[in-house]
Amino acid sequence: KILILDFGSQVTQLIARRVREAQVYCEIHPNDVSDDFIRSFAPRGIILSGSHASTYEDHQLRAPQAVWDLGVPVLGICYGMFTMAVQLGGEVQASDVREFGYAEVRAHGHTRLLKDLQDFATADGHGMLKVWMSHGDKVTALPPGFKLMASTPSCPIAGMAHEDKGYYAVQFHPEVTHTVQGAALLRRFVRDIAGCAGDWVMGSYVDEAVARIRAQVGDEEVILGLSGGVDSSVAAALIHRAIGDQLSCVFVDHGLLRLNEGDMVMEMFAGKLHARVIRVDASELFLGRLAGVSDPEQKRKIIGGLFVDVFKGEAAKLKAGGEGHRGASFLAQGTIYPDVVESGGARSKKAVTIKSHHNVGGLPEQLGLKLLEPLRELFKDEVRELGIALGLPSEMVYRHPFPGPGLGVRILGEVKPEYADLLRRADAIFIEELRNFRDDASGKSWYDLTSQAFGVFLPVKSVGVMGDGRTYEHVVALRAVQTSDFMTADWAELPYALLKKVSSRIINEVRGINRVTYDVSSKPPATIEWE
Ligand code: XMP
Repeated sequence: KILILDFGSQVTQLIARRVREAQVYCEIHPNDVSDDFIRSFAPRGIILSGSHASTYEDHQLRAPQAVWDLGVPVLGICYGMFTMAVQLGGEVQASDVREFGYAEVRAHGHTRLLKDLQDFATADGHGMLKVWMSHGDKVTALPPGFKLMASTPSCPIAGMAHEDKGYYAVQFHPEVTHTVQGAALLRRFVRDIAGCAGDWVMGSYVDEAVARIRAQVGDEEVILGLSGGVDSSVAAALIHRAIGDQLSCVFVDHGLLRLNEGDMVMEMFAGKLHARVIRVDASELFLGRLAGVSDPEQKRKIIGGLFVDVFKGEAAKLKAGGEGHRGASFLAQGTIYPDVVESGGARSKKAVTIKSHHNVGGLPEQLGLKLLEPLRELFKDEVRELGIALGLPSEMVYRHPFPGPGLGVRILGEVKPEYADLLRRADAIFIEELRNFRDDASGKSWYDLTSQAFGVFLPVKSVGVMGDGRTYEHVVALRAVQTSDFMTADWAELPYALLKKVSSRIINEVRGINRVTYDVSSKPPATIEWE
């Protein structure tokens, strides 16, 4: 196994992710763990991360002495390279400017780490790597026994190696995807140089996570807010695997879910997994409070506020125990790594809502509960893989995201129960046909080829004819987008045959809708949701 010592970089979790991709087990720990900890961890290799400090002089974090005494390979990345240089007798020069950006690095000699890794070669035959690099502080003198491994014109020592000891360091960031050979470099370090077997899979993660949860929770009880989305569902399945009935899930049905969604969630958890799920049918409460409100932000506030209130009420009951339960002392959340990063940095107004809604912000303190976040170190695709390893159905795990306020932001203007009903049925037809239609070239369904797709209810009426009669009914707009990060998105070029089928089914099957349109706006300048 690999030990990653974290000096406080924003991207340390990405190092862990690349190591897991190389099928090697790793753990991240703070850079100031004790020598005893390192010895008892018994890593096969150690990686020293970068740091967020803008310059080297900002702080004097060092790796514990045991790192160098253990006799195992060590890889220093960025700040990790500085501290390796300083601790082993080299020199670093501080600078107050720092740039993070694209660079082309020349590889020197044939170190085991970089051998045959190159993106292109210079005219005189030197291997070159395309990387993301921090310029600024520099290693200016190699420690004794080290040789030059990489350089750029502005950074003459961009990599160094002590091959006998298995010490390597790079000034650039191999963990980010912009460094083209980065994943290969990290793989080579953990597999070939540190000699890890590469037999770690998501299935083993389940066992490790289960053991960790058991150790953390002991015989206490846990409450989890289940939304039916991927993250909270995977968290619930994992925690249930670990502690069974010590877990209680609260599923708040605000009446703005998709067709049959509430039943599906109950079936999957209570029915199949036999997890204890308390379904709170709060649709009357939500729809009542939304009556007469048409401003989008106000609707979001009402929904978010009520959601927290309802959840809090249930959590308080569970905290108090009853029905053979002692009462909960933990609140579990499906926080995943991108949420952790996001909450540290600048967020959009909507992102704040996303947080306060999904992760019931501030609640643990208010309720006096400890926090349990077993997915904190995972990325979305890893959470999905974990869900599959836990036996959740793939339709669930690969489901499009659904906003917390649900149909509340997909019914434009005032939310009325009859509008919600029409939209639910139209939306279900759209999703069903997206799953049915396959793209010839890739063989994938259009559901899998789009990132998010849904219907939007437009509270306007238009004229139509049906049979011999004139109709005057509402409109549903279809929205389907393709995106990798939901920050920007393109509208999906769905086949006409698919749109045709969906339109004719909605108009024929959903009485009350006589017109269907397709949204051809990209984000930006439009957003994905209409409100
Ligand atoms: P927009 O409309 O901002 O949406 O382009 C980007 C992504 O965020 C989702 N979204 C939300 N999710 N609570 C949520 O949990 C919200 O209030 C919210 N608003 C938008 C949206 O579905 C899309 O995936």
